Amino acid sequence: MKSKLELENKYKRDFPILKEKINGKELVYLDNAATTQKPEAVLDAVYNYNKTMNANPHRGAHSLSVRATEAYQEARDNVRDFINAEHSKEIIFTRNTTESLNLIAYSLGETLNEGDEVVVSVIEHHSNIVPWQQLAKRKNIKLKFLYPDENYKIPMTELEEKITDKTKIFSISQMSNVTGVINPIKEMAEYAHKMGALVVVDGAQGAPHIKTDVRDLNADFYAFSGHKMLAPMGIGVLYGKKVLLEQIPPFLTGGGMIEYVDEQSASYAPLPEKFEAGTPNAEGAVALSAAVDYLRDIGLDYIEEKEKELTAYALEKMNELDFFEIAGPTDLEDRGGIISFNIKGVHPHDLASIVDTEGIALRSGYHCAQPLMKYFDISATGRISFYFYNTKKDIDKFISAVHKTREVFGYGS
Ligand code: ALA
Repeated sequence: MKSKLELENKYKRDFPILKEKINGKELVYLDNAATTQKPEAVLDAVYNYNKTMNANPHRGAHSLSVRATEAYQEARDNVRDFINAEHSKEIIFTRNTTESLNLIAYSLGETLNEGDEVVVSVIEHHSNIVPWQQLAKRKNIKLKFLYPDENYKIPMTELEEKITDKTKIFSISQMSNVTGVINPIKEMAEYAHKMGALVVVDGAQGAPHIKTDVRDLNADFYAFSGHKMLAPMGIGVLYGKKVLLEQIPPFLTGGGMIEYVDEQSASYAPLPEKFEAGTPNAEGAVALSAAVDYLRDIGLDYIEEKEKELTAYALEKMNELDFFEIAGPTDLEDRGGIISFNIKGVHPHDLASIVDTEGIALRSGYHCAQPLMKYFDISATGRISFYFYNTKKDIDKFISAVHKTREVFGYGS
């Protein structure tokens, strides 16, 4: 059995980009909530797909097209297994979480009527707010918000107050991309269902980091992105319960999603094709499947534990320094490896630029979550976010670069 350190080194070695020098320094990649890096296994899968099986799936009788179709279908089966969906046809490939949420806001939204309500929370990123705003305008329905308490968590009393028998959809993130808070989805879904609402879960920061079983959560719909879990950009997933996906109208229309078309009308293909108009991103799906294999091999248990350890270490180091203001829980309870913060006297954008000269990649800004920033009454934060290939040494380098940044601004370290 490999020791912890051997495993850590092996995982880091699997990612060629982590050997890159940035401004002459070893890359310290702490922007995993924005996008993750790719191991050799995923890079090879993209190469092999293009080398041995690239053709348009579903559109040809020739052998190469059959090969591409099979690879695409196997990818769907593998993703089904990863989130423990019941049927492969419940897995719809999209471009990313944003497209998945737009799909569901549009298609499920079509079944809503004036007077109905949709409930989201203020901690959502824009992808889980703007599509619902559009729906609210289109259908003249009310969009209601849940707010977190002083511990950054959304109390169940908020749900009890805002989710009523008028609520048709409740859409909530599994983990906040700003505060790192993990929502009790199962408990929340149970309450929303009791009130007669359908539950949409934004798993962009969930599935990559937390062992996710959509049936156990009892999510009606669950959205996530490949590029936040080692796969390329441009491939995402919408899971939906079969019985619901069958009832709602398609989102994008055109080739690939039809059964029969005449001049004035069309009938639609069964699931999952009904929601996959146009040539699919087969290469992306195959790469996502390779990412799923890689994550399964490591084990989500290992990933959760490793990220907890890194988060505990980072919070300990940050809490020792009185110039850090953390925009999120400072304990480990119900939180993941995303830490947003401000440093007294240093704007987050300046911080991001200066630490970049030390090879450190972190994000600064409003993190696609302006309503939450407004709620916190801050314009921006810095953010570090971990994946299992990060190490405590990465955090030490971050802290040391923060001291250097403060020196640039005339503060003692
Ligand atoms: N939502 C992504 C992030 O948090 C882009 O960085």
